[in-house]
Parts: sequence; structure tokens; C-alpha cells
Amino acid sequence: MTQLDLAFVRDQFPAFAEPSLAGFAHFENAGGSFACRQAIDTLDRFYRQSKVQPYYVFEPSAGGGRQMDRARERLAAWLNIRTEELYLGPSTSQNTYVLAQAFRRHLQRGDEVIVTNQDHEANIGAWSRLQDEGIVVRTWQVDGSGELRAADLAALLGPRTRVVAFTHCSNIVGSIHPVRELTDLVHRAGAWAVVDGVSYCPHGLPDVAALGADIYLFSLYKVYGPHLGAMFVRASLAAELPSQAHFFKGDTLDGRFTPAGADHAQVAAVNGVIDYLEAVAARHGYANQPVPVQAAAVKELFRNSEIERLQPLLDFLGKQAGVRLIGSTRAAARAPTVAFTVQGKSSADIASRLAQRNIGVGAGNFYAYRLIQALGIDPTDGVVRASFVHYTSPQEVDRLVEALATVLA
Ligand SMILES: Cc1ncc(COP(=O)(O)O)c(C=O)c1O
Repeated sequence: MTQLDLAFVRDQFPAFAEPSLAGFAHFENAGGSFACRQAIDTLDRFYRQSKVQPYYVFEPSAGGGRQMDRARERLAAWLNIRTEELYLGPSTSQNTYVLAQAFRRHLQRGDEVIVTNQDHEANIGAWSRLQDEGIVVRTWQVDGSGELRAADLAALLGPRTRVVAFTHCSNIVGSIHPVRELTDLVHRAGAWAVVDGVSYCPHGLPDVAALGADIYLFSLYKVYGPHLGAMFVRASLAAELPSQAHFFKGDTLDGRFTPAGADHAQVAAVNGVIDYLEAVAARHGYANQPVPVQAAAVKELFRNSEIERLQPLLDFLGKQAGVRLIGSTRAAARAPTVAFTVQGKSSADIASRLAQRNIGVGAGNFYAYRLIQALGIDPTDGVVRASFVHYTSPQEVDRLVEALATVLA
């Protein structure tokens, strides 16, 4: 099996050559990743050359529009969906909010929506507010270890269930859910599946068509790119939902759920993310292969490299007295988003002590407030979270483990 060329990968990220970041080990990637050079360059170029209102006939404007269209086409191809099924909005929280507004007009009193208490609030709160319209909101609850079980979802599905919103991978527990199995279950009950892919996508963009979700969301600022939320909405569902765009914008799918639009330069900069992914594919022998082949290969390269780095960290934390590791101890079952608490120590304090060693981890509830409460953890202090992606080196993981050994002692 081909190994990820880590030196090549790190060369694509200016942060690793940035003097002010020398010696800094980034372990808060689940909050926001470093941006790849290609995305930064595209953003810079757009602001210099095309920073006028796009889609007019004069060249700087038309050229800007072409770059934006191209970005959507290329990202859609990488996700294996149709371009008109891809929406780019300011963030995932904004995207779910607008979608819920559309469902508010579409659902009937007494219809049921299922949310989980494992998700980030972005995929719970917007749906839960539909209660105000007489929609019944049910919660698919985590078990004592914070995991979601398919049998518990099956027990909640009923003839009035219309929407089930769940996560591909929690930003705290890290387990990767069998999305296809779950979307099949949801569809058998006659409901739509809304899947939050924000915590999953930084570890390799999925074949969204294969997952079977009706709506799939993720945030590009965690996938080495600009601060945007990407959203797939199945064309047949989008056509049923009332458009949230200006009334005169016609009946096209495009723009239906992004009334605010997104920053034009950032939309164009999505090209940079795809340039990066293509460069990784080419470097590992997949140049000129069909896009799905490149996408699958890059995802596998990323995942394999992450799993190799992750297992030693899990093994270390699993052996520490007083440490409560959230989620699986098996790297292959989860994303490298590792949350834990330490008996008798505050999470904020642990994060501060690591920061003194130039290691960046997060502490808190990460807006998975309901999950943290369900786990019996104080949501103010929350958990310590160390999260990484494919560009993280084995040396950085060693440094984290060594620093933790001192801080937790
Ligand atoms: C799992 C998950 N879902 C949703 C969101 C919200 O994304 P955004 O910041 O784009 O609104 C986040 C943000 O951290 C997240 O981690």
C-alpha cells in the first residue's frame, strides 16, 4: 500500500514554513485546519484580479463568475453529486438554519423530526425549534459511553417521522457512523436523512451519493480551505422545499437555500482545495485518473496515515490513571478527534499547560453541549480535545504524548 508522502503534503501548507508558527504543534484541527497554499493563493489572486461583482459581461466580473462556477463543479465532482445539488453558504450553522426555515413551511403539525444528543448544536437546535410549529421533536439518545446505537433509532422511527438529523462523526466521540446503513433505515421509514459531515470530511471527502443522505453538510474551513459551509441537497427534495431565495430568482435549484450567498473570493478559493487534493492524487500516482478514483485514493491515503498516528495516542491515554477517554480506543473505528477528561484536573488548565509548551489543544464543550451533559461532564469546563488530520507528523504526536505525560502526572 502506498504511504502518504508527508513531506510533500506539509510543503503545501504555508503554516509549516511560517516563522511565527515555528515550533507550534496544531492539535485543534477539528475547530479549524490550516489552509493549503492553493486555497490561499486563489483567495489572494481573486481579491487582486476579480474583486468586483461577478457574473457581468465585463471581463474581471465574468472571469470571477467563471472561477466560482468552476469551484462548484469541481467540488461537486469530487463528492460525486450534481453541481446543482451543491450549495455554498457562510457556514454549516447558517446552512442548517436556512434549511430548517424551508422545512418549517413544508412539514405539517404532528409530523416528527428526530435529532440526536450527540451532534454539534448546529444540527440539533435549528431542527428542535420546529417544535414552535407543532412539529414533534424526538431525541435519539447516546448510551452511557456517548455512542449512538442504530437499534435506538429504529425504536424511534414511526409513520409520522419526516426528518432524521444525525452526524457522520461526532466532534467529541469521534466514532465514524455507518451512514449508509442508517440512511437506509431512515428511508425505509419514509423519512429524509440529514447528515452532518463536518467532523468527518477533514479526514477525506466522501462519495456523498454512496452515503444515501438526502442532505449532507460540511465546513470547508476545516478541510484546508476558506470559511464556507458546503451542503448537498438531493434535487428531488430541494424541488419540494420552498425556496428561501428572493422571490424573483425563479425556480432553479441553484441558490434556493443560500439567500445570503457566500463571499465570492472564498467560493473561488474552493478551487484551491481541489487543486490541493488533485496534487496529492498526482503525487501518489493517480494523475489523470477519473475523479472518483482520485477521491477514493486520497481519502484512503489520509485515513491510513491518520490511523497510524492515532493508535499510539489512544494507547497512551487508555493507560493513564484518572483519564476518561471518550469514544473508541481503536483508531480504525474513529477520527483522530480525541476528547478526554482528567479526574481532579480542569480541562482549561490542561489546555493552558499544553499551550505553554507551544501545543494547541482545545478545551470546552465544542457546542456539543447536550452530549457533554449526557456524559455527566460539566459543560463549562468540558473536555480536553486534541484533534489532528493527515498533515500531522509522528513527531508532533510524540511531542503531545510526552507533554501530556508531564501535565497529567
Ligand atoms: C460537528 C460539527 N458540526 C457543525 C459545526 C458547525 O459548523 P460551522 O462552524 O461551519 O457553522 C461544527 C463546528 O465546529 C462541528 O464541529
